Amino acid sequence: MITANFISCRVLSIFSCVEKRLSFLAKSQLSRVTALGLVTGLLSGTVCHAVEPEIVIKFSHVAAIGTPKSISIEHFKRQVELKTNGRIRVDVYPNSVLYKDKEELEALQMGAVQMLAPTLSKFGSLGIKEFELFDLPYLFANRSEVTKITEGPVGKKLFSILETKGIKGLAFWDNGFKMMSANKAIHVPADMKGMKIRIQGSKVLDEQMRTLGANPQVMSFSEMAQALQSGVVDGAENPPLNFFSQKIYEVQKYLCVTNHGYLGFVVIANKRFWDRLPADLKQTLENALTEAGKLNDSLTEKESAAAMTAIRNSGKTQIYQPSPDEIKLWKITLLPVHKKMEDRIGASLLQQVHKELK
Ligand code: SIN
Repeated sequence: MITANFISCRVLSIFSCVEKRLSFLAKSQLSRVTALGLVTGLLSGTVCHAVEPEIVIKFSHVAAIGTPKSISIEHFKRQVELKTNGRIRVDVYPNSVLYKDKEELEALQMGAVQMLAPTLSKFGSLGIKEFELFDLPYLFANRSEVTKITEGPVGKKLFSILETKGIKGLAFWDNGFKMMSANKAIHVPADMKGMKIRIQGSKVLDEQMRTLGANPQVMSFSEMAQALQSGVVDGAENPPLNFFSQKIYEVQKYLCVTNHGYLGFVVIANKRFWDRLPADLKQTLENALTEAGKLNDSLTEKESAAAMTAIRNSGKTQIYQPSPDEIKLWKITLLPVHKKMEDRIGASLLQQVHKELK
């Protein structure tokens, strides 16, 4: 029996979700058609179940509600609940409400949550250094080069490394190319000298900032905005969507469009949990993930541009587009990071990456 209370809770949660999403969409200046499409999708995909779920998946992530990652995980949830007729329920915990960066990976390994979508840069803390190859500055010229690696033999190898740590790798999702932000103008690498820059916990990112003469500070994503506002750090690197959704443009005066590195997500599950799933449910989850991944990547592409426009229109952050010569300087300055990090990532893995990119 579906109780009146259940229905009213469900309706309330739908409207709160719609409200939050509309507010993000309004801020990111998406067209009304896109906004309406997403909201209609949200309402039509909502599932009411009378049955108790056999399986509950706790899916934790650190992105804000309304971002492409959050929308896509919600889409995954709705598809899974719909297609399994309520046999699986997915409880989503966004915005670091459950765990911060490093904690969530440990929680997944212990089975306290079943699914996550951390960035590629967060696996070093578990002793999985190979994923840090994605942090090498200017390794990828564009998104299709990234796909060549994630969807090819290297991506498969990386997933097999995850299994040795009790993690099942399921999909790679996009978030975009990173830029530098700070409370003083950045045009060329020398401008980074002496600044304290927040980074994710990756040794490649640490080396990248040291090579620029900056002082890297590892910090959780959820702590970044506050640390920038209070002056604990002077700057940060992130793609436009993250600068926008974390309101970094309100606390940083300058943004330099360096596009110096890639930031993507890996959707993962606790391996023991995954291996015990019945084959039909596993297939349903995989199908829903494929669909959600496509949604994430297309929203990311569209909304990254909208986020840049919104940041520019805020009037709070000046955006600097380096000239081709300045970009060349960034590339030359950061090139030594590749050699220095070769032993950490693995020379043969890097050779394979370069071979596949050529
Ligand atoms: C994320 O986008 O999930 C986090 C990025 C960061 O920690 O900088």
